[in-house]
Amino acid sequence: MKERLQALRAEALEKLQQVKDAGHLNDLRVKFLGKKGELTEVLRGMGSLSAEERPLIGQVANEVRGAIETFIEEKQAAFLREETERRLQEETIDVTLPGRPMTVGAVHPLNKVIQQIEDIFIGMGYTVAEGPEVEQDYYNFEALNLPKDHPARDMQDSFYITEDILMRTQTSPVQVRTMEAMKGKGPVKIICPGRVYRRDDDDATHSFMFHQIEGLVIDKNIRMSDLKGTLLQFAQEMFGSKTQIRLRPSFFPFTEPSVEVDLTCMKCGGSGCRICKQTGWIEILGAGMVHPRVLEMGGYDPKEYSGFAFGMGVERIAMLKYGVDDIRHFYTNDMKFVQQFARM
Ligand code: PHE
Repeated sequence: MKERLQALRAEALEKLQQVKDAGHLNDLRVKFLGKKGELTEVLRGMGSLSAEERPLIGQVANEVRGAIETFIEEKQAAFLREETERRLQEETIDVTLPGRPMTVGAVHPLNKVIQQIEDIFIGMGYTVAEGPEVEQDYYNFEALNLPKDHPARDMQDSFYITEDILMRTQTSPVQVRTMEAMKGKGPVKIICPGRVYRRDDDDATHSFMFHQIEGLVIDKNIRMSDLKGTLLQFAQEMFGSKTQIRLRPSFFPFTEPSVEVDLTCMKCGGSGCRICKQTGWIEILGAGMVHPRVLEMGGYDPKEYSGFAFGMGVERIAMLKYGVDDIRHFYTNDMKFVQQFARM
């Protein structure tokens, strides 16, 4: 039996010498050392040995197993080294190649301005409301005191989808939707940012789609002075503490009285320049006291409640704040344009 074991060792080592790859090595391991392998086969004969012989043969068997195992491990390590060597050769990297720049995005200037305005009004206790861009004629016009034949509808040429459904031309319909949701009770203090659509021919200052931010405050005893104070606070937080505002009489069907609000020019501070066309003032929003009929249609009793509303164009504010000279830059998705605002 001893001879058989030694012959087995010789055979195994010889075969293992010639092994060329890891797969073949594993086959041989199974063949010699596996449960049904040749060594196990030989050891099965141990039962017929005498008590003196058994430990001796057992010792030889262990030696043979150990020798084969060691040889297999060495071979495995050698294969691993070869593999690593091969990969080091093949997979070289040229550290002198210029790196590929990582593209990092930037917040779009319009979103930046919307966030700034939201932050200012949230600081004054407002919440942010939203409404649909595809809107019913009722909310966009009718409930804002613009009946079907009202001439002021011409102020805003609209994209109609059906007779009663259109792309909203202003964020003011959210005023009505908010009032309705309140069921005529309790104070309202919201701003509403969003897209609006008008049938304008696109040029440097007009776009068929742009963004507005609407504001609405309703409570008991809300007065024009509250509107004025709120807008002054906003103007100074947005454009600097020296900014002043000026209210001019205007007309909107849903506010009475209505005003147009100007700011002292952020470029020249009021002395007159190209931006403010030498007037020192820049118009930035429309506002007014909510028309009693609008309160009524929103479910509020105008004898008990009053309110103010305002609406401003986000693009216009962004253009003024960042000195952008063409509104179309905002919509071209040109990374070179957007990236300029990454650190502003
Ligand atoms: N909705 C008006 C517009 O788009 C702006 C506005 C809002 C005016 C609220 C008064 C009150 O021109």
